[in-house]
Amino acid sequence: SPRSHSSSLSVPSGDHSVPKQPFVIGVTGGTASGKTTVCDMIIQQLHDHRVVLVNQDSFYRGLTAKELEYVHEYNFDHPDAFDTEQLLDCILKLKSGQSVHVPIYDFKTHQRRSDSFRQVNASDVIILEGILVFHDQCVRDLMNMKIFVDADADVRLARRISRDTVERGRDIQSVLQQYAKFVKPAFDNFILPSKKFADVIIPRGAENHVAIDLIVQHIRTKLGQHDLCKRYPNVNVIHSTFQI
Ligand code: ADP
Ligand code: C5P
Repeated sequence: SPRSHSSSLSVPSGDHSVPKQPFVIGVTGGTASGKTTVCDMIIQQLHDHRVVLVNQDSFYRGLTAKELEYVHEYNFDHPDAFDTEQLLDCILKLKSGQSVHVPIYDFKTHQRRSDSFRQVNASDVIILEGILVFHDQCVRDLMNMKIFVDADADVRLARRISRDTVERGRDIQSVLQQYAKFVKPAFDNFILPSKKFADVIIPRGAENHVAIDLIVQHIRTKLGQHDLCKRYPNVNVIHSTFQI
C-alpha cells in the first residue's frame, strides 16, 4: 500500500510527548479494599514487562519506645505516620532508572527491620500502592496514572478483621477499636477526598476484571509508544493512528 512506502511514522499520541521514563501508577483506596490484589493482577497480566511494586506501608516510621507503650493511641492512618520524604526520594530514583533499597516493615512489632532491605530494580512500570499515596502533591505529580480501588466499608472491615487477626497478630477487639477511633475517620478525612485525583475508579476492586483489563490495555499502549520511540528516535509524531 502507499502507506508502507511512507518515510514518516505516526504514533498514537494524545499529548505529543515521548515517554522516556518508567510509567508510574498510583493505586489507592481504603484499608482492605483490594489494592494489593488489584496490583498483583495488573502485574500478572504484564508478565512480559518489567514491573515493580512499591508499598507505601514500607515507609511507615518505626515507633519509639514511648509510642510502643501507648500503641493503641497511635494513629497509623494519619499522613504523618509515613516518611513521605523517603518515599518520594525512592520513587524519584526509580523514575530516573536507579535501583533502590526499600525498608521492610513489620506490622506485628510496628518497626522496620534494621538488618535488611528489599532491593527494587529499575523497570518499565512502577506501581505505588497505599492508603495515602494521593495525599502528597509531590508524590502525586510523579504518577502517570492514578487508580482508586473502591469497596464497601462493611466488606473492607470484614476483610480487615480476618487479615489483622490472622496475619498481623491482633485480636478482634483491638481491630474494632482502632477502626472506629482512627481508620474510619482517616478514611473520611484523607482517603475519600483523594478520590477526586483518580483517573480511574474501580468499583468492586479485584472482582472487576473488565476494569483491570482496560487498565492493562492502557498501560500496554503507553509502553508500546515508548518502545516505538526508542526504536525510531526520528519518528514524526503526528496523530492518533500508527502507520508505516
Ligand atoms: P489492601 O491492599 O487494599 O489492603 P488486599 O488486596 O490486601 O487489600 O485485600 C485484603 C484482604 O481481602 C486480603 O486477604 C485479600 O485476599 C482479600 N480480598 C481482596 N479482594 C478480594 C475479593 N475481591 N474477594 C475476596 N477477598 C478479597
Ligand atoms: O494494607 P492496608 O492498606 O490495610 O494497610 C494500611 C492499614 O494498616 C492502616 O489502615 C493502618 O491502620 C494499619 N496499620 C496497623 N499497624 C501498623 C501499621 C499500619 O494497623 N503498625
